[in-house]
Amino acid sequence: MLIAGNWKMFKGPADAGEFCRGLRDTALPDDVDVVIAPPYVSLSAAVQALAGTEIGVFAQNCHWESEGAFTGEVSAPMLRELGVYGTIVGHSERRQYFGETDETVAQRCRAALEGGLQVIACVGETLAEREAGETDAVLRRQVSVLEADDNLVIAYEPIWAIGTGKTATPEMAQQAHETIKAVLDLPVLYGGSVKPENAAELMSQPAIDGALVGGASLDVASFAAICQNASPS
Ligand code: PGA
Repeated sequence: MLIAGNWKMFKGPADAGEFCRGLRDTALPDDVDVVIAPPYVSLSAAVQALAGTEIGVFAQNCHWESEGAFTGEVSAPMLRELGVYGTIVGHSERRQYFGETDETVAQRCRAALEGGLQVIACVGETLAEREAGETDAVLRRQVSVLEADDNLVIAYEPIWAIGTGKTATPEMAQQAHETIKAVLDLPVLYGGSVKPENAAELMSQPAIDGALVGGASLDVASFAAICQNASPS
């Protein structure tokens, strides 16, 4: 079971340090792997505050080249040098607002893995795609550009459930995860309005291997409660 907190564009270095010191001092279940993904500028503060703990620090994106004329981008070797353990790629907000495509996501994913990072690659359908009955086809298309790897995890995030308070039912998530696993047999996290109140039921589905948590990961108590409620024991 893996619980990952995606902070998006929240928490500068001071807030990140404070959160991480709070999380470090909070009891977390042994059978849950916990990671957080702060903004780039806060990665160093998080790595320092979590040194010596089992909590991993992830970036929210990673470029496919190790260096070059790519203004605004950050590479896998740079993240590794900072002590970062992994990265998210292909989040729907990157696809929606910053022109990421299945191809750029696959390139970022491959480079991050080759650079020694763990990767959470995000996929998911829009509401229009779900209503048109295209969910399975969209997921298969998004996942089929990726290659299986021991250090790769997929996150299924239905776009209509992100930040909206609307969660996929456990049955809907289970079905989407089965579709994804039929293409690539990898662990699959669920993301989209995961909260302490719905974590246990979602995580009890057999094909759900963890959660990618946005809004509810910004507060130590709610993030820790999700980790507790996700614990199989
Ligand atoms: P949410 O975000 O938990 O706030 O819905 C999830 C995500 O976008 O990773």
